[in-house]
Amino acid sequence: MSPTELRPTYPIRTGRLLLRPLTEADAGALLAYRNRPEVCRYVPFEPMTPEVIAERLRTYWAATALTDEGQSLTLGVEVAGTGQLAGDVVLFWHSRQHRGGEIGYVLHPDFAGRGYATEAAEAMLRLGFEELGLHRIIGRIDERNEPSARVLRRLGMRQEARLVHNELFKGEWSTELDFAMLSDEWFARCPGSPRSA
Ligand SMILES: CC(C)(COP(=O)(O)OP(=O)(O)OC[C@H]1O[C@@H](n2cnc3c(N)ncnc32)[C@H](O)[C@@H]1OP(=O)(O)O)[C@@H](O)C(=O)NCCC(=O)NCCS
Repeated sequence: MSPTELRPTYPIRTGRLLLRPLTEADAGALLAYRNRPEVCRYVPFEPMTPEVIAERLRTYWAATALTDEGQSLTLGVEVAGTGQLAGDVVLFWHSRQHRGGEIGYVLHPDFAGRGYATEAAEAMLRLGFEELGLHRIIGRIDERNEPSARVLRRLGMRQEARLVHNELFKGEWSTELDFAMLSDEWFARCPGSPRSA
């Protein structure tokens, strides 16, 4: 089956969270964590300014669906009940032919250590495998980003590669760990899920 498109119904509910598109009303909450150097240390962007946040909200983060390869869907991670924005998660659709995607996640440090990133990322795997029909979803991280490696391992993703000094990243050589999960592995972990592939 070739992926067609992904048009989720919002909000997407998990045990403790609501995932939904970001809006201009989130600008302040996004700035509160995306402008922090410690949050940005291992991610491919620099600490963001209000202007960069506003520009992203108008462009990449305005997407509410995936209609073709090369696109990404970023969703806000809201704590159900309080409405606080704890962070954001992203699903990239890399290839229609190979049915490939990738996940990423960023949390406000105040909301770390509660399992929110894992819970939100699992919802993005579910969207990718069950609704978009992807075959393979990857996660790529800097080896020094141990909390992120623990998220991917908790999700059940397999480490497939360790690329030593793969990129000159923010002025230092970065050793990249590549994780992946196949749709068969997802459905084996979640036997109640309907097969979509
Ligand atoms: C990567 C990042 C999202 C990980 O955040 P995190 O809070 O460690 O991950 P989770 O939200 O899944 O929380 C998991 C932790 O909460 C703990 N926890 C506490 N209560 C919990 C609960 N009720 N349910 C589940 N986990 C719980 C878990 O034991 C786990 O701790 P451990 O990793 O020390 O064992 C965060 O460090 C971050 O935003 N970093 C900056 C951006 C970044 O690097 N993103 C990744 C780019 S590749």
